[in-house]
Amino acid sequence: MLIELKAVNKYYQNGDQQFHVLQDINLKIDQGEFLSIMGPSGAGKTSLINLIGLIDRQYTGDYYFNGESYQQANDNVLARIRNRSVGFVFQNFKLIANNTILENVELPLLYGGLSKRAARPIVEQALVRVGLADSSHKLPSELSGGQQQRVAIARALVHQPKFIIADEPTGALDTKTSAEIMQIFRDLNQREGTTIVLVTHDPQVSLYGDRLIKILDGAIIADEPVKEGSHAIQ
Ligand SMILES: Nc1ncnc2c1ncn2[C@@H]1O[C@H](COP(=O)(O)OP(=O)(O)OP(=O)(O)O)[C@@H](O)[C@H]1O
Ligand SMILES: [Mg+2]
Repeated sequence: MLIELKAVNKYYQNGDQQFHVLQDINLKIDQGEFLSIMGPSGAGKTSLINLIGLIDRQYTGDYYFNGESYQQANDNVLARIRNRSVGFVFQNFKLIANNTILENVELPLLYGGLSKRAARPIVEQALVRVGLADSSHKLPSELSGGQQQRVAIARALVHQPKFIIADEPTGALDTKTSAEIMQIFRDLNQREGTTIVLVTHDPQVSLYGDRLIKILDGAIIADEPVKEGSHAIQ
């Protein structure tokens, strides 16, 4: 079991008001699963994956990542585990605008203590993996949205993460480009066994996964396998 949440609740404090954003979440995710999360805006999807991705520890209940609870861990321990284990991909790519593609992708490795020289072959391999081997010296602004998202995926891959968390990774992309990006996620899941947790508003995108949960008002209201026949066309 890679991820296990037991009776997890989360509240945001707004002045003297408490907002119950995650309500009694019980969720298990095995290594190698590809899970999609859908739900209306404000339902708590980002709050849930920030918790799963070891970004947020402000919750009650239990969360075990690889059998360990990190709720009491100090920030350095948490950052190290996160850096090593989780790759993040966001809707708006979050690339550094005045760094080249190569510099963007190597950054997590340099943070992790590698020299530029040691990082180089890992960066090149990640860029090949997403089909961008020739763009390493360009700036993000010189690439299309889909290419920028490929760079973000390459950056998420350099530590060979156990799992990838993607928060609406196709939200800013057209249908054709979305399909290309989803094919990369599907390949990673099927060929390399990378666990993927993906938030999307697009029912078509959710079909690339093999399990779909629906969230409403902070609670899981459905948790179902994606039927074999309904998988997105490859
Ligand atoms: N830091 C915060 N402080 C207070 N309230 C917050 C905070 N972050 C989010 N919220 C509130 O919690 C609720 C859930 O937010 P969250 O970002 O998890 O929703 P979401 O499902 O990801 O929505 P979207 O689809 O729009 O991204 C929203 O009502 C939001 O306003
Ligand atoms: Mg969100």
